[in-house]
Amino acid sequence: MATAGDQQMKQFVEDLLSKMTLEEKIGQLNLVAVGFDVTGPVVSENVDENIRKGNVGGVFNTYTPNAARKLQEFAVNNTRLKIPLLFGYDVIHGHRTIFPIPLGLSASWDMNAVERSARIAGDEASADGLNWVFSPMVDIARDARWGRIAEGAGEDPYLGSQVARAMVRGYQGNDLTLANTVMACVKHFALYGAAEAGRDYNTVDMSLNRMFNEYMPPYKAAIDAGAGSVMTAFNEINGVPATGNKWLMTELLRDQWGFDGFVVTDYTAINEMVAHGVGDEAKAGELALKAGVDMDMVGEVFLKNLKQSVEKGNVSEEEINTSVRRILEAKYKLGLFEDPYRYTNEERAKNTIMKPEYREAARDIARKSMVLLKNEKQTLPLKKTGSIALIGPLAKNQRDMIGNWSGAGDWKQAVSVEQGIRNVAGNSTKINYAKGANITDDEQMIKRLNAHGGELEIDTRTSEQMIAEAVKVARGSDVIVAVVGESQGMSGEAASRADITLPGKQRELLMALKKTGKPLVVVLMNGRPLALNWEDENADAMLETWFAGTEAGNAIADVLFGNYNPSGKLTATFPQVVGQVPIYYAHKNTGRPFGGELLDKYKSRYMDVTNEPLYPFGYGLSYTTFNYSKPQLSKNSITPDESLEVTVNVQNTGNYDGEEVVQLYVQDVVGSITRPVKELKGFQKISLKKGESRTVTFTITPEDLKFYNNDMEYVLEPGEFKVYVGTNSRDVQEASFTVQ
Ligand code: BGC
Repeated sequence: MATAGDQQMKQFVEDLLSKMTLEEKIGQLNLVAVGFDVTGPVVSENVDENIRKGNVGGVFNTYTPNAARKLQEFAVNNTRLKIPLLFGYDVIHGHRTIFPIPLGLSASWDMNAVERSARIAGDEASADGLNWVFSPMVDIARDARWGRIAEGAGEDPYLGSQVARAMVRGYQGNDLTLANTVMACVKHFALYGAAEAGRDYNTVDMSLNRMFNEYMPPYKAAIDAGAGSVMTAFNEINGVPATGNKWLMTELLRDQWGFDGFVVTDYTAINEMVAHGVGDEAKAGELALKAGVDMDMVGEVFLKNLKQSVEKGNVSEEEINTSVRRILEAKYKLGLFEDPYRYTNEERAKNTIMKPEYREAARDIARKSMVLLKNEKQTLPLKKTGSIALIGPLAKNQRDMIGNWSGAGDWKQAVSVEQGIRNVAGNSTKINYAKGANITDDEQMIKRLNAHGGELEIDTRTSEQMIAEAVKVARGSDVIVAVVGESQGMSGEAASRADITLPGKQRELLMALKKTGKPLVVVLMNGRPLALNWEDENADAMLETWFAGTEAGNAIADVLFGNYNPSGKLTATFPQVVGQVPIYYAHKNTGRPFGGELLDKYKSRYMDVTNEPLYPFGYGLSYTTFNYSKPQLSKNSITPDESLEVTVNVQNTGNYDGEEVVQLYVQDVVGSITRPVKELKGFQKISLKKGESRTVTFTITPEDLKFYNNDMEYVLEPGEFKVYVGTNSRDVQEASFTVQ
């Protein structure tokens, strides 16, 4: 229902619109990038001129209160209608204080932590001149080759939806006009994570039932949480580029889902429709506008062509008005007409950005995101005495700690693992360091990475020399901590990899270290699931730390020395080898499921590897152990509108206090379309003291049992359902019930 405030907004926008020339209207639909040089944001001449002409509706990449204020003043003082600008930016996992990459954040399974990271990011961004963030990225991703799997919450629609909601709440709070909230932008609409072969920007072709059951829920959740804007995707969907897709942006997003914010394209995505093969630029612009795009990011297709499109009668001025209204409404919702300088308060910037409390939160959230993949013979936690061979190309590294898409983050402020160990273990632990290997020795790759913000240095020694030094250091120490993985630029946009093992000579390094017989702790940094068969077999302990952000080293040391007991769980399946991808837990059964018999030839299987992942979805260890009772159901049979309760007793049976993510999965055994072998439908992160036990209760509602059938009806089909509860998607105990 429209409120009085809405009415006021509509009236305001209508009045303003009636004063605008066609050129000024088209200008509002134009988003320009105002770049920056090494010393910070710069305002180019050309942009000034464009703003003066009323050709700019918003800018992105300009931040700091000073730079944003300058530009905003220019817009307000030099344009006929004094319409303020939007200031957008890629605030992805923190703004100045950097949190773990989103894949890592999701591995915390802690929605308060996720929301808090977005809240802090929103607070810092809004203090830094910004009012609009290009986040959350909610694309479901099941292909580890795709570099952008790093930017989302992994493979699962249920978990992904929770994360999407938490992020939107964190950024927007419940009042967008406040000076410390920013407008969220849900991306990339839609299905970007399903790019064929994991190659970025590639084709997506998908059945409707997969789309709606598996890929759409997080976008919908973000919209329902009130996200103010949506960004299109680069990919095509079933033959129609997302950016020119009327079904997607109008019928689905607006008419069915009721989205009332604005849609911005991804970077030059309208122009790119020419290469997709829809026609020339003017045609692409018309398609985009008519499909439901409101703002053109950087490509200037609207700016250059829309006027002629109106003159030719291909686009009506009313169609343009519709988009202009949405942009003006966004500015109104942000309170910009009331005070264009709301987000440019230097004093607030000084008191907000990277304040100690925020760094402390970054450290805490980073710890929560780490996943203990292996821990034999209680190798971890380490003792704060004796000597550590600290080895590996990422051990002293600062640049990579803040990960990809950390634009305004200053890596020089990031804590390296070495520094973190010194901070946490103090002087009683001796650190013996050797680099051991480069992250990669591929010169082409290094050039590319460094051309886009990387800081890779190639050691001039041969790899044999480096490994020999590391082995010597290891022999003289009590335990090896090998910090290995990818460089941050090996994931993220345009960073697909066809080989997802440890790059360069890092596995050779680990092999040599293994031969010393010293306990081998592998600390991993990477933006995607890696294929770690050898490492899993040979390491004594292995900790997945993603790219953990500004406080990475401190958080890692907290976990290594047991100041924090790891509690993260994987949100994307780790394959044994790349040939298994796309691999995900919620798969279908096939007519020939493979049961593991060697000679069972005609089954859905590989000849050279089992079907199992290396680490399943939801997997992660703790320094303690948890024992689960069999799940109990409150009823064995329900009607289609009843709920039921599942209870399970979880006991901490080990020697440490710890947290556990208790997971609930459901399987619809028979359906009018085939259904996944299990689907996550609930989780609770609980904290148990040593010896403590607790009964955890889940409610399964009719909503949890529904799915889209092939007629796109959202239905609950009576019949048998199985319930699985456990510590990950594989290690579960079962119960079942029927819906009459
Ligand atoms: C990315 C978006 C990003 C935009 C603006 C694009 O290349 O796909 O995720 O928000 O650039 O930087």
